[in-house]
Amino acid sequence: MKRKQTTVALLGLLAFGWACSGSPENQQDTPQQATETEQSVSTSSVSRSDFGKMEDGTVVDLYTLTNENGTELKITNYGAVITSLKVADKNDSLEDVVLGFENLEGYLQKGVPYFGAIVGRYGNRIANAQFVLDGQTYKLAANDGPNHLHGGVKGFDKVLWQAESFEGEEGIGVKLRHLSKDGEEGYPGNLTVDVTYTLTDDDAVKIDYKATTDKATVVNLTNHAYFNLSGDLGEKILDHEVMINADRFVPVNQTLIPTGELKPVEGTPFDFTNPTEVGARIDANDQQIGYGKGYDHCWVLNGAAGEMNLAATVHHPESGRFMEVHTTEPGIQFYTGNFLDGSLSGKGSTYGHRTGFCLETEHYPDSPNQKGFPPVTLRPGETYHTQTTYKFSVKE
Ligand code: BGC
Repeated sequence: MKRKQTTVALLGLLAFGWACSGSPENQQDTPQQATETEQSVSTSSVSRSDFGKMEDGTVVDLYTLTNENGTELKITNYGAVITSLKVADKNDSLEDVVLGFENLEGYLQKGVPYFGAIVGRYGNRIANAQFVLDGQTYKLAANDGPNHLHGGVKGFDKVLWQAESFEGEEGIGVKLRHLSKDGEEGYPGNLTVDVTYTLTDDDAVKIDYKATTDKATVVNLTNHAYFNLSGDLGEKILDHEVMINADRFVPVNQTLIPTGELKPVEGTPFDFTNPTEVGARIDANDQQIGYGKGYDHCWVLNGAAGEMNLAATVHHPESGRFMEVHTTEPGIQFYTGNFLDGSLSGKGSTYGHRTGFCLETEHYPDSPNQKGFPPVTLRPGETYHTQTTYKFSVKE
């Protein structure tokens, strides 16, 4: 299916170094506001606008990337959040498929459950909010019962990143950088994190994660977008058909910490090896489903870790929207928005129970404490590098 091409102006925002809009002292160096030279030749575009202001007056950016099909991705440097992603349905109607808010204020509210954000330094849970590395115990914030979740009280989802847009061979995008200081949220080592979002002309959102450190530390980065392919963000996601390319999953205890076992999915409600409606078994009488209040588990992906493998597909039959997830990561957390309770609204919708699902590509939860899981230690001189793509199309 060929969509109408949109010819839009390419704003001349692209050739500058790190636009350090993430700190007030750098406010004078924001070349992206000053260089709006227009060339109305390109079919894709990048533009920057103000998303809001932090309490200290720092201006927060919103980048809007539009490819030649009209697919539109919006990213803010607050939390490196995907705030909006408009993709076509079978009638060529572009609609937003990610939960979120229209302005910064929405994201600054208490209790926003990581909508669209990059989470880290360690995405997912660490048992009892501590781990031992090279004989030393590191204590982290217990921000999820007794456990540590998604990097702590002020994780990567709540910091201002440095940002710059670019136009590259693969597509248009935004590069974001965060320097996570030694001791931040209890983690050792100064960690430099680079996340690059690219919107390609074949409607893939590619996320490239890199990090380096000056002391041994643990790293597990992911994106926490809540998808709803129906285009109606207030609708439940139970009718989406999900395939997860995994023969095993990671069972958990009552506080959602892995037991250490990697269990075959066969014969359980966790078998998504064939496309299955999310709602088909989400309330099954099953201890694991009970612990997660639905799906809130990590699957052990088939295929060699470190290589790009198909991790999951999601089809929304009514709209025809189809999403494919590929990743180099060994695991994927499938979370069905079980804790969404209707207390947050944004972009004209109220985010009720199970109105969004996350597919968080990552290492398994609690890996720093689980000897049998693939390691998550990053040492000086090494580069952490992972990739994930979410590709959109239409399937009748
Ligand atoms: C976790 C959930 C949690 C959600 C929002 C997910 O990644 O697995 O348990 O409620 O993030 O915080």
